[in-house]
Amino acid sequence: MNFPATRMRRLRRTEAMRSLVRETHLHPGALIYPLFICPGEGIRKEISSMPGVFNLSIDEALKEAAASASLGLGGLLLFGLPAEKDEQGTGAWAEDGIVQQALRAIKQDRKLDSLVTIADVCLCEYTSHGHCGIVARDGEEFTIENDSSVALLAKTAASLAAAGADIVAPSDMMDGRVEAIREALDARGKQDTPVMSYASKFSSAFYGPFREAADSAPQFGDRKSYQMDGANLREAMREIDQDIAEGADMLLMKPAMPYLDVLREARNRYDLPLGAYQVSGEYSMLQAAFQRGWLEPERAMMESLLGIRRAGADFIVTYFAKEAAKVLN
Ligand code: PBG
Repeated sequence: MNFPATRMRRLRRTEAMRSLVRETHLHPGALIYPLFICPGEGIRKEISSMPGVFNLSIDEALKEAAASASLGLGGLLLFGLPAEKDEQGTGAWAEDGIVQQALRAIKQDRKLDSLVTIADVCLCEYTSHGHCGIVARDGEEFTIENDSSVALLAKTAASLAAAGADIVAPSDMMDGRVEAIREALDARGKQDTPVMSYASKFSSAFYGPFREAADSAPQFGDRKSYQMDGANLREAMREIDQDIAEGADMLLMKPAMPYLDVLREARNRYDLPLGAYQVSGEYSMLQAAFQRGWLEPERAMMESLLGIRRAGADFIVTYFAKEAAKVLN
């Protein structure tokens, strides 16, 4: 069938027609809002590189949670800024750790039951050196130890689940951590807590603003010996295979926009629920363009999310969650 019998524009003529034939939809219930929890009270400190994103004390975080619930968001992803950091990151698995406290507070309020609470599992926010695992030093050289880090991550995940996390989400990229976390959860009676694995997490410049938000920049070296090389799609599939074999219940891909092909490939290959994380740098560069008047905020925001959804994400972790839900509601 060729022109003039076929005219593609027939189905674009009115908004009603376009709406009828739309292939991809966003909805608030598939958006997850990250929160950065800090000690104190009444604290609401804006991240300079992330307009509209804050370090929040627990009382302020509860207000954000209430707003998220009334907007119909799917859930919250919690990160913590501990009062003190050390070499091992003990604050990550402390029973009264900052995220553990926040989880208990959220779980006490029945009005927040519609939100799934997801706890990021990593050590970088809690270690004095800012790496995601244990550092072994040898003169000027250093390595990030895998197996000793995994044991601490497993402890952290169990502690977060016991405090009320509905899902634990390891973002550290150590080998074998999903299996160790599954075992630690089961041993703590948390056999019903799912593991959402950041299965393919690339070493990315787009995490820059997050490291200000979470105060987690590595003090020396970089994360390239544990996070993935951005050039490797096939390796990303092997990471996912591995995590599924170890018992991952859900997958999270990250970053999103520079890796939409990896997301699509994962969607084609795997049947697990699949999410994508529109990371801090993706948010910040759009915000920078909005501030300069270079892009239309609402349209650019929604287009960026729609692209992630079209590439295959069932759900999206995004700092735009509340703003996008306002547009969708
Ligand atoms: C912790 C973690 C990071 C992000 C999520 N979990 C930072 C990193 O790996 O350096 C980044 C999220 C974002 O940029 O929004 N390991």
